Amino acid sequence: MFRHLISQSAKFTLFCLVLFSVDVHAEYGDIILNKTADAMREAEVDDVVFPHWFHRIRFRCSVCHENIFKIKAGANDISMSTITEDKEQCGTCHDGVVAWEPLECERCHSLEEGWSPGAIQHSVREGEKQDILLGKIGSTAKPYSKFMEIGTGWHPLALAKSGLPLDKYGLVDWAAAVRKKIVQPLWSLNPEVDISEHKLRDTKILFTAKGESMPDVIFPHDIHSYWLECKICHDTQDGPIFIDKLGANNITMMGIGQGKWCARCHDKTAFPISDCTRCHNHPKGKPIDKKTLVRHLKTPPPPLSPAVPIKKPEQQEQIDSDFF
Ligand code: HEC
Ligand code: HEC
Ligand code: HEC
Ligand code: HEC
Ligand code: HEC
Ligand code: HEC
Repeated sequence: MFRHLISQSAKFTLFCLVLFSVDVHAEYGDIILNKTADAMREAEVDDVVFPHWFHRIRFRCSVCHENIFKIKAGANDISMSTITEDKEQCGTCHDGVVAWEPLECERCHSLEEGWSPGAIQHSVREGEKQDILLGKIGSTAKPYSKFMEIGTGWHPLALAKSGLPLDKYGLVDWAAAVRKKIVQPLWSLNPEVDISEHKLRDTKILFTAKGESMPDVIFPHDIHSYWLECKICHDTQDGPIFIDKLGANNITMMGIGQGKWCARCHDKTAFPISDCTRCHNHPKGKPIDKKTLVRHLKTPPPPLSPAVPIKKPEQQEQIDSDFF
């Protein structure tokens, strides 16, 4: 049944040969799993490092999210008995059929001493932090704006030797990797399911970014629906990330900086927020094509009556002027 997987992985033999010589830890998108730290200490195993990149070479996000794992760090209660006896969670694949059996503990329980604890994505090994120049404007010494600061962070040089296309930070450019068909991740573990059943959506959505100097954002549905099923965004377990209605979500950069909306994935598994122009990809006033839907800004709220005190206007001013 899983024969196609094996032939699929044969395509990556070359990759793997190179990859195995690379440290598979501390890559962008790694997640440390240590909710059960006490039990793990008792069994004398280290915390688990889950490498997203190693899996997304082979599988699209929807294979795991959210049939196997909720798309939120710490939201899944994973245990060894579920893995080995029930063959669920990691055991759905690490069962000796799709992938190796969970016999060698340290293959998963691989967190080394000195790494920051907790469910983090940008695993950082002390002493290896690097400064990166953020975008074309601003620097880490003098960030361009509050959002530059939010975006500042250490992004480990990913997989330099793997042959996957890299972005300007040296992180894997997964959009290019699939466009160039360098990786062709599966969208289902069930070979009976035909690829044509995977729904793609080709509309694009124009978000008009407030302010003069910030280019607008065109959100492409196609690359997102390539990796992710509609329901991951629109019918997310524990509440939708986005309501599937044009203009229905009050998305702001501040909210994104706080880890909401687009930053539910970007800055975690998808490319980082510091890559401003990859989202702010459309110069203001440039014509748009037919597939692009324009999000109309919501009608401004009615003016407040004098009886209602306006909340800290000076502070609001400050935040806005921080943007530009
Ligand atoms: C092989 C399974 C697998 C695949 C494929 C996979 N993930 Fe995950 N993902 C996980 C696991 C495991 C976690 C951790 C869940 C936890 O901590 O409870 C996770 C967590 C996440 C989180 C939560 C991070 C946070 O800080 O809350 C995001 C976002 C995410 N994945 C996005 C993606 C995206 C986007 C893709 C596809 C590009 C993807 N994942 C592919 C297994 C997978
Ligand atoms: C959808 C199937 C699937 C799920 C679910 C899955 N894995 Fe994997 N995983 C794979 C495959 C396939 C490989 C590559 C196996 C190979 O190269 O032989 C792999 C490789 C790995 C590796 C790479 C390192 C190495 O030595 O090969 C680690 C670590 C790993 N998995 C951990 C986990 C953990 C932890 C979980 C659960 C949180 C998990 N996986 C869930 C399919 C899966
Ligand atoms: C396929 C990856 C994988 C392998 C291999 C693996 N584990 Fe785990 N293990 C996990 C994950 C994921 C968790 C949950 C971590 C968390 O969320 O706190 C876990 C949790 C645990 C826990 C604490 C929770 C519980 O169920 O008791 C113990 C103890 C443990 N593992 C021992 C082992 C031992 C011993 C081995 C080797 C025989 C091993 N593991 C191999 C992935 C793995
Ligand atoms: C990465 C998350 C994501 C995925 C996956 C996704 N969407 Fe969306 N979708 C959005 C965002 C963001 C909006 C804009 C919402 C707004 O304007 O407030 C949107 C808007 C929509 C809209 C209204 C605008 C339009 O395009 O007509 C529909 C309908 C929709 N999505 C359907 C789908 C379907 C069907 C799929 C799967 C094939 C899908 N979406 C996959 C994020 C996503
Ligand atoms: C559920 C996860 C998820 C959410 C939420 C999400 N994205 Fe993405 N996005 C991805 C993944 C996965 C890719 C593929 C590239 C990668 O992994 O870096 C991607 C790619 C993109 C690309 C294409 C880049 C290119 O080089 O072609 C743009 C632009 C983008 N996202 C913008 C947005 C915007 C704007 C939002 C919020 C309105 C958003 N995304 C929300 C997961 C997500
Ligand atoms: C993952 C995609 C994404 C990335 C990366 C991103 N933005 Fe945004 N940005 C958005 C979206 C979506 C909006 C909302 C537009 C709207 O108001 O509807 C936005 C809005 C803004 C606004 C307008 C104010 C507001 O709150 O709406 C500014 C200013 C801004 N972004 C600056 C930045 C800067 C600076 C960076 C780089 C550090 C950045 N953005 C990176 C998606 C992104």
